[in-house]
Amino acid sequence: MAESRNEVTIVDHRSGQEQKLAIDKGAIRAVELGKLKDPQTGQGLLTYDPALLNTAACKSAITYIDGDQGILMYRGYPIEQLAEQSHFMEVAYLLLEGELPSQTQLQAWENEVTYHTMIHENVKKFMDGFLYDAHPMGILVSTTAALSTFYKDAKKIDDAPSRHLQKVRLIGKMITMAGYSYRHSMGLHYILPDNELSYAGNLLNMMYRMAEPKYTPNPVLEKALDLLFVLHADHEQNASTNVMRCVGSSRIDPFTATSAAAATLYGPLHGGANEAVLVMLKEIGTKDKIPAFLKSVVAGEGKLMGFGHRVYKNYDPRAKIIKKVAHEVFQVTGKNPLLDIALELERIALEDEYFVKRKLYPNVDFYSGLIYQAMGFPVEMFPVLFAIGRTVGWLAQWEEMLLDPEQKIARPRQIYTGAGKRDYVPLKKRG
Ligand code: CMC
Repeated sequence: MAESRNEVTIVDHRSGQEQKLAIDKGAIRAVELGKLKDPQTGQGLLTYDPALLNTAACKSAITYIDGDQGILMYRGYPIEQLAEQSHFMEVAYLLLEGELPSQTQLQAWENEVTYHTMIHENVKKFMDGFLYDAHPMGILVSTTAALSTFYKDAKKIDDAPSRHLQKVRLIGKMITMAGYSYRHSMGLHYILPDNELSYAGNLLNMMYRMAEPKYTPNPVLEKALDLLFVLHADHEQNASTNVMRCVGSSRIDPFTATSAAAATLYGPLHGGANEAVLVMLKEIGTKDKIPAFLKSVVAGEGKLMGFGHRVYKNYDPRAKIIKKVAHEVFQVTGKNPLLDIALELERIALEDEYFVKRKLYPNVDFYSGLIYQAMGFPVEMFPVLFAIGRTVGWLAQWEEMLLDPEQKIARPRQIYTGAGKRDYVPLKKRG
């Protein structure tokens, strides 16, 4: 039997050159491959990995996913335990600081975030400029970027206290910008944050308070919303987090980087999927239309939104938790009539060879929209709710990237497939 060593040997048959590559934590360093040169051009060997399917772009100690087993952990704590026993502010502290807070640390952290929920009056005016039917996610993306013009000290990314302040500001103001974007779309006046409410309760306050002097959130709905923030808080190197790191690597301020990450989340293949699921369920309309709908999906005419995942090849553990909470929410709000369609759709899809063969299971977005809708959120607000939770993860990953001495400005390579050198033809000589 061959001796077991943590290295791989590659023979480049163009030159006969042999290269030993060390394997560290299951990976080889792509730059090492560059030592294998094309004998003709001298160009080093590249790896080609569109959509980064098999490339680890960083080392991270924040979130662990085992996609085959359906395991998700934040800083080593299983998501099921955090969902059951923790809450969003504590999870935010955990993700950002690496450890669960003490009672005093938690209190201080919650106070800090609560007292940074206010936004500058000019930010409100900025938001006023959007059309009444502007998508709230578009408003959130733009307003988050605009914050960088209000907090010029955010540029001091090498200064730890400044980084901390910007993180607190962003997390605090996310719910206010979200609440205002909703009120704007409804043509309602903005509601100020209420410092006595929880993070989730405060968002509900800024969305739904009418003439009552004090808004009291329904405790079941407040808890469910808080839980949804916990479940969305981080998910290692997904598309938006990758953008957060990539944009942040240019050493721009965190507001601008978060805006870019939120823009990525907006897409229907990412955080916009929860909105797309509701649209899909509505279009299906009744249970008897499900088989025909799935037939069209299998025929390649569209996707079953809320199903499938790049990493999970098993049931998404977040979807399992959400499915359970949905029943608690529906006891308060009444059942979302689309739930029966969703349950039946899941049942039939999980028995269908197409989905079984491809290991396509419900993901976090399949059931979250049903809860949001039952709670009275318009579908356009769904990705905004996702972004509120994920802001914490983006910021944790951003700071980890900044403090990692191995990181530099992200700059992938390409394989050029265009024209060879040719001479410019003046306009009048072109056919
Ligand atoms: N419905 C039907 N077919 C699907 C689906 C789906 N939802 N997802 C994947 N497939 C098929 C896909 O067509 C491909 O088939 P084939 O091998 O015959 O070409 C196979 O399954 C593998 O899929 P893929 O597109 O190579 O997988 P991916 O890792 O590139 O995409 C995904 C992952 C999440 C973008 C994709 O599953 C998808 O578009 N799902 C629907 C949108 C969605 O629910 N997104 C939310 C993701 S979870 C939350 C988040 O990240 O924001």
